[in-house]
Amino acid sequence: MKSALIAKFSQAYGRSPEIIARAPGRIEFIGNHTDYNGGTVLGAAIDRGVWVGLARREDGLRRFASDQREGIISQCADQLAKGTGQASWVNYPLGVIAAFPHFGLKAPGGFDYYAISDLPVGAGLSSSAAIELASALAFVAATGQEPDRETLVKVGKHAENNFVGVPCGILDQGVSGFGRKDHLVFIDCRGPRFDTVPLPSQAHFWIFNTHTKHALVDGLYAARHRECMEAARTLGVGLLVEVTPATLNANLAKLEPTAGKRARHVVEEIARVDEAGQALRAGNLAAVGRLLTASHRSSQHLFENSTPELDFLVDTLVAAPHVYGSRLTGGGFGGAVMALTSPDFGDVQAQAVADAYARKFGAKPDILHAQTGDGAQLCR
Ligand code: GLA
Repeated sequence: MKSALIAKFSQAYGRSPEIIARAPGRIEFIGNHTDYNGGTVLGAAIDRGVWVGLARREDGLRRFASDQREGIISQCADQLAKGTGQASWVNYPLGVIAAFPHFGLKAPGGFDYYAISDLPVGAGLSSSAAIELASALAFVAATGQEPDRETLVKVGKHAENNFVGVPCGILDQGVSGFGRKDHLVFIDCRGPRFDTVPLPSQAHFWIFNTHTKHALVDGLYAARHRECMEAARTLGVGLLVEVTPATLNANLAKLEPTAGKRARHVVEEIARVDEAGQALRAGNLAAVGRLLTASHRSSQHLFENSTPELDFLVDTLVAAPHVYGSRLTGGGFGGAVMALTSPDFGDVQAQAVADAYARKFGAKPDILHAQTGDGAQLCR
């Protein structure tokens, strides 16, 4: 990927990048919609992501290009003009620059910027956090600053919340920032506090990307966010993390039925993250898998962020041999399903699942046997 980036950069700008940074995509392992509710979550950085090349310019011009879109977008360093349509990807690096002063960081001046990615877009693997973290690393390197990792993670989240306009939690940026090969990242989102948990070597990840996306996905994510905040207010707490499953049960009558379902999903999911952590430490992958599938069922019936496509994949996967458990990964309303399997699950089994899906829905999902990888880093 590094040599591909250098080639693309040179082709676009007629010179080589001075700085190269990369940041991985992530799998949401368990902890669905828990992050912005102050809960806990487990995720894995994968060995695919976004690479950013940068070379400074003296004339105060910022130029952006990417292998995913045609053309070069130019603007002066005293501007932060939002991109729209085909150019809206530029809001990720621009949002990072806009976030810098909020964290006491100096914004970069002029530069040439090129991003390439080997992450499937729209697969729920968070290409957005990857581009934010890789951009943030490149920009701090260009300005000779060395903030700690937690600050970079918060810069990415700030960009997403305030410039891109998605009220996400800290899961995606936290995992992209703190990822570690053969480990899961554990985040206690209230601190936030970041930790890593070793992943047993027999644990394998498979991703099935349906390429389906609910037309209103961003609005639905924001709606769930709002429903959770309202449920917390009705229950007299700041965030749903402050409610235990027992107190929720005792107070369920105070909530409208829909609000009650949303709250139950979040509160029970936080408890499942805790159980999954314990089962992982005990090396009990069968128990971990049951928790993953329980998480999906809760998404399906309580949080209602699944779809018939995702449900079909989960149903087919959990009925297949060598699968410990399966669930939707990420925000939901389309996107991808992940399965935790033993090493005996291979291409033949994965293809059988994809074929069954194609018979029902007419198109095959993309299959990715994902490997874990390290978090965001400077490459030179
Ligand atoms: C998206 C968001 C995350 C998180 C998940 C759901 O990936 O970006 O912050 O809320 O959805 O768990």
